[in-house]
Order: sequence, then C-alpha cells, then structure tokens
Amino acid sequence: MPKDTLTITDNRTGKTYEVPIENGCIRTPDLRQIKTGSDDFGLMGYDPAFLNTANCKSAITFIDGDKGILEYRGYPIEQLAEKSNFLEVAYLLLKGELPTEKELEVFTNLVTHHTYVHENVKSFMDGFRYDAHPMSMLGSTVAALSGFYPDAKNIRDERSREIQITRLIAKMPTIAAFSYRHTMGLPYVYPSNELSYVANFLTMMKHIGGAYKVHPVLEKALDVLFILHADHEQNCSTTSVRTVGSSQVDPYSAVAAGVGALYGPLHGGANEAVLRMLRDIGHVSKIPEFIKQVKGGEGEKKLMGFGHRVYKSYDPRAKVIKRVADEVFEVTGKNPLLDIALELERIALEDEYFVKRKLYPNVDFYSGLIYEAMGFQAEMFPVLFAIPRTVGWCAQWEEMVTDNEQKIARPRQIYTGATRRDYVAREKRTGGQK
Ligand code: CMC
Repeated sequence: MPKDTLTITDNRTGKTYEVPIENGCIRTPDLRQIKTGSDDFGLMGYDPAFLNTANCKSAITFIDGDKGILEYRGYPIEQLAEKSNFLEVAYLLLKGELPTEKELEVFTNLVTHHTYVHENVKSFMDGFRYDAHPMSMLGSTVAALSGFYPDAKNIRDERSREIQITRLIAKMPTIAAFSYRHTMGLPYVYPSNELSYVANFLTMMKHIGGAYKVHPVLEKALDVLFILHADHEQNCSTTSVRTVGSSQVDPYSAVAAGVGALYGPLHGGANEAVLRMLRDIGHVSKIPEFIKQVKGGEGEKKLMGFGHRVYKSYDPRAKVIKRVADEVFEVTGKNPLLDIALELERIALEDEYFVKRKLYPNVDFYSGLIYEAMGFQAEMFPVLFAIPRTVGWCAQWEEMVTDNEQKIARPRQIYTGATRRDYVAREKRTGGQK
C-alpha cells in the first residue's frame, strides 16, 4: 500500500527521515528536524519569489495553468463572464456561494449605500499635484481610509470586517473616479444610487455638463472586465495584502499594500505598459524588429501582456477579453492599435522563443485596447484593475484572518553578509571597508 510520505536521506549524515505529504505538499517546517548536529538550525527551503511554495490553503479561486482553467468557487470564469454580473461575482467570492435573488438585492443595496466618501477624503485628494498618477492617489487614499474608520482595527469582529469590506468595495470606484477628475482638473461627481456599480463608476468618471447616459454595451463590457479581474488566487498584490494583513493591521492598510503591488509594470501596470509598447511599435511593419529586440534582451525589453507565472497556455481571461473587444469596437470604432496587437500575437505564437517558454497573451494584452477605445487614459488602466481586484483582496484577507493556521508572515533568509566584526572609530576608517 503506497504511503503519502516522502523519505529523505541526508547524505551529509546518512540519516533517513520520513515526512508526510498532504495536498501534494510537504510542510517545510518538517525539514527542520534534518540537522548535521545539535547546533545546526535545521534544513530550510530556499524559494525566492515563491516559485514552488504554497503560502496558504484557499477555497476561493482555482487555476490550472497548464490547461488554462480559471474558476471562482468552482464556477468557470467563462460562465460567470457570460451569465453573471460583477456584484453577484463579488458576493460569490466573498461568501462562497452564489446569492439568491433576495441576498443579491440586499448586497447590492448595501454596496450602493456605501459609495460616498467623507468630505475630508476629497480635501485629502486635493492635496495631490495635477500630474499625480491616479494609481498613486488611489493607494494613498485607501491607506488614508484607515484613519477615517478607526473601528476597522477590530479585525477579530466578524461584523466589523463585513462593514469594512463593504466600504472598500463600495468606495473604490468613487476614489478611482475622484483621482481621475483631480488629474483632469474637473469637479468631482458624487455617486448615484440609481445606477449599477459599473454605470455609477462610468458616470462619476465622465459626466460633464448635461445629461450623461452610459452606453449599455460599454456598461456590460466593463462589468465583464471587472468579473475577469476580480480574483486570481495568490498573485503578487494578493500576497501583499495577505502579508501586510497578517500583522493584524486594518484591511485598508492591507489593501493599500495590494494597490502598491498592483501598480508595478509586471503586474497590474502591464496593461498600461502594453498600450505604450503598441504605440512605440507604431506600425505592423515594425513588429519583426521589435520581436528581435525582445528576443535579444536589448534594454531588457519584454513583450508586455505576454507570459504568466501560472498560465503555461492561453490565459482564459484573454480569450473572453478578445470577444468583449469585438463588442466594444462595434460601438466605439476599432482601436487602430488592434491590428498591431493581433499581428504581434500571431507572430509571437509562432516564434520559437515564445513557444519554447510557453508565453501566451495574458489578461493585460487586450484589456488596454478596450479601455482606450472606451475613452480611458492609459494611467487609469491599473486603476481599472484595482477596482474589481479589491473584491479578491477582501475575500483573501477575510480567509487569511479566519484561518487558524496563519500567523504573521515572516520568511527566513540565507544570510550572506559580513561575519561578526568590531566597530571601527570614524576617524580610523579608511573607506571601502568590506
Ligand atoms: N516577453 C519576453 N520574454 C518573456 C516574457 C515576456 N513578456 N515573459 C517571460 N519571458 C521570458 C523570461 O525572460 C524567461 O526567459 P529565460 O528562461 O530565457 O530567462 C522566461 O520567459 C520565463 O519567464 P520568467 O520571467 O521566469 O517568468 P515569471 O513567472 O517570473 O514572470 C511575468 C511572469 C508575468 C512577470 C512575466 O512573464 C512578464 O514580465 N510578463 C510581462 C509583464 C506582464 O504582462 N505582466 C502581467 C501579468 S498577468 C496580469 C497580472 O496578474 O498581473
């Protein structure tokens, strides 16, 4: 009868150890018993960037990167994108089950009635210069909410957690839209309770002067994009939220860390970077030269919007996004950069460099084209990622806070610095000490 264990022989000592395997994992603390002597700390795992280390157990999102599968609480992303709406998906991610009609109504009502921010939040945002990046404003303002809701530190209180999560999901579009209006020098537009989550956001962004009516196709398209971005298990920003949250700080501070991580060009900033890349390429005829530069590693150029730590086949979100793009372009007219993107994808998918490394378009490759066609500036793209991802951050934060196995995140290190030495008086230093 095969056993769910791993037998390890330490060739330094000749000793053999047996450690349990659970869920396809060994617990690396089990390695600590493997020592060369009594003063040995014990064996550790070394895994910079968590390439092969699970940090938690999670029941929220499932990804099979080889097969290109993404599921929220067991529901395939394609079905949710086609049949559900963003707030229903938010409820699913947070509570684990799809809501009944009544539950969805209550949840939608709750979110809708928490969209306003304190007037002092506005004053806080006014302090930014006109050219502040909206993502930087978003992160700072979310962090500032911690000061507006001191009750948020009661993270052991389930009711308090629920209120803070509602506030975060509800206020994110308001802060996002205010960030944009600030950079444009436009007056803030207050939330409207009659509108859907997405229509309200679009109205706060775009309303100027007379009546503003959101186009239903664009409303639906953004809703689908929000669904696709709502969670993606242990990505960089979610790991940041979990890590910061593990110190038992309030969720606003934890989510602000998530916004910071998402801002980077290798993560949520990639959609902005894709657009700039397509603009730089400028014409289909320039693609071969660009691909050559990427492959040659010139200036550390990457094909932005390609590749993923987990997906080693087509990102299922990118497939849905391509369909949404067609629907949006029907209304807005085609984004002229689309031809470059399509040709870039075609060439890359045939090129040995990309094929060998299993690099496929990810969620960010086409989303920027849609956002631009809808009239968003490139700086807003990562913000458009952060709004829906707040749901995932909150669901993952809640799961972490209520997980008895979790403790404050505190990795080990391999020390590579100087060995112990004595302090040298300043006047005796010759400089360049090592
Ligand atoms: N263009 C060119 N080469 C690439 C790319 C790319 N976009 N992505 C990976 N590679 C190469 C990389 O240089 C490496 O080559 P080699 O084996 O010769 O050293 C190989 O492919 C493996 O890549 P990696 O850097 O070890 O993979 P990773 O898992 O550490 O990085 C990634 C994943 C997403 C950061 C990376 O693919 C990347 O930088 N992509 C571009 C940025 C991007 O589109 N980010 C959005 C990710 S999806 C949305 C999100 O969740 O944020």
